[in-house]
Amino acid sequence: MENLINDIGILDQAEHEACETVHISKDQHTGKSRKLYIESYGCQMNFSDSEIVASILQEDGFDTTSDIYQADVIFLNTCSIREKAEQTVRHRLMHFNGLKRKKPELLVGVLGCMAERLKAKLLEEERIVDLVAGPDAYRDLPKLIAQVDDGQKAINTFLSRDETYADISPVRLNSNGVTAFISIMRGCDNMCSFCVVPFTRGRERSRNPESILAEANDLFKRGYREVTLLGQNVDSYKWSPEENSKLWIEKKGIDQVVNFANLLEMVALIHPDLRVRFSTSHPKDITDEVLHTMARHENICKYIHLPVQSGNTRILELMNRGYSREWYLDKVLKIKTILGDECGISSDMITGFCSETEDEHQDTLTLMDEVQYDFAYMFFYSERPGTLAEKKLKDDISLDTKKRRLDEIVSKQRSHSFLRNKLDVGKVHKVLIEGVSKRSEDYLQGRNTTNKVIVFPKENFKIGQYVTVLVHECTGGTLIGKVVG
Ligand code: SAH
Ligand code: SF4
Ligand code: F3S
Repeated sequence: MENLINDIGILDQAEHEACETVHISKDQHTGKSRKLYIESYGCQMNFSDSEIVASILQEDGFDTTSDIYQADVIFLNTCSIREKAEQTVRHRLMHFNGLKRKKPELLVGVLGCMAERLKAKLLEEERIVDLVAGPDAYRDLPKLIAQVDDGQKAINTFLSRDETYADISPVRLNSNGVTAFISIMRGCDNMCSFCVVPFTRGRERSRNPESILAEANDLFKRGYREVTLLGQNVDSYKWSPEENSKLWIEKKGIDQVVNFANLLEMVALIHPDLRVRFSTSHPKDITDEVLHTMARHENICKYIHLPVQSGNTRILELMNRGYSREWYLDKVLKIKTILGDECGISSDMITGFCSETEDEHQDTLTLMDEVQYDFAYMFFYSERPGTLAEKKLKDDISLDTKKRRLDEIVSKQRSHSFLRNKLDVGKVHKVLIEGVSKRSEDYLQGRNTTNKVIVFPKENFKIGQYVTVLVHECTGGTLIGKVVG
């Protein structure tokens, strides 16, 4: 048992800090003639997009594979958020060079945010790349592949104002059959000064609610028990029939403006056994209406990812985040008042942003003490070409200082995660079983409403089932317990 605890704790902590997950396509055997291998980097939106890509190419004669050596087409779905993310992709492309030498007909394509950022430059810089497609160009992939088959290089990096892939039913590539992600919007209009996303993903647009509900319903019917609604800023979800289409009203579908709180409620009403999560909330936009909607429905999980980025108001202004330290702390108070202190809150933080002083860094640490996050993704600032910060501010904090400040917030977060987990010991939690524990075949794992991973002996319980678990011990990353009912 001691070993199990240590292993899980260490593994989780490393995963949280690295935040460099890579997803690889699964094996499909539907008898299609060509094989597609997709490796996806970055955020959940990108992983979701790979499922759209797999769906589009399934119609075009491709089965996905997890074996790179079987592939006729290799796609890297890339991320540009930090320099390191792009370096990882460059290394992978170097590795593919060897494969292509042995199999010259192999098609290598770069999709996603790095494709959008670098456009045709990618074709010049990385000779191995045959195809470049940005996040709004995936419907064009069959045509682009045909172009490469004809011996040309192919590229489409047009950003759209209305593409949401609403009608495409994603092929679930990394599915456990229990939890799934649903994109509810694309793009971002926020222009945080450090962030490349508005440039790589384009203008914000919301997907029509009927298609979201249809997807969630279908997942529930297929045995899924949890959906996570995804967007860069879910609180600005807005669907208004007049703006979007007259057809919508004629079809007598939903005929009123739908905001995020409304959408959340509609999904929650599909079935009490379907859990609903969402990400990401923006502190300047999350409304009391959303918090009250969460409070009204047991199946809307009591967990909010509310990235603060910095605890200092001057830095927040430079970041163009649209809120102050006090505004943020007020929001946290609102959350705790409406949803109770047990509601899980997590964050993203950036250390060493342009001109950040030692005192301003301390403000991030004291904010952390006030909020006591359950969990956080922490990064040091990485300047991105084309962003407002790159154009207007000086990246003047040394790498050593950035890293030292990062170490300080990471170790504070570690102690907070552990403290928050300790509060859960001795309590019973409703857990949706998602799979076998990563560290022991004899244990299952799932999450409680506040997004904590809980591990417990397998007995005869099944994946996809809800169980009540009494937690008897914890690490910084995991709760350990036993099913009691
Ligand atoms: N839409 C989400 C986050 C998207 S990016 C939001 O608004 O919170 C995920 C996280 O990456 C950000 O929250 C931020 O903490 C981090 N990030 C973004 N750009 C970065 C940069 N240039 N350097 C370091 N971290 C960055
Ligand atoms: Fe980037 Fe800000 Fe948009 Fe998040 S809200 S994606 S950090 S610009
Ligand atoms: Fe990365 Fe693009 Fe997501 S830059 S974090 S993959 S939106």
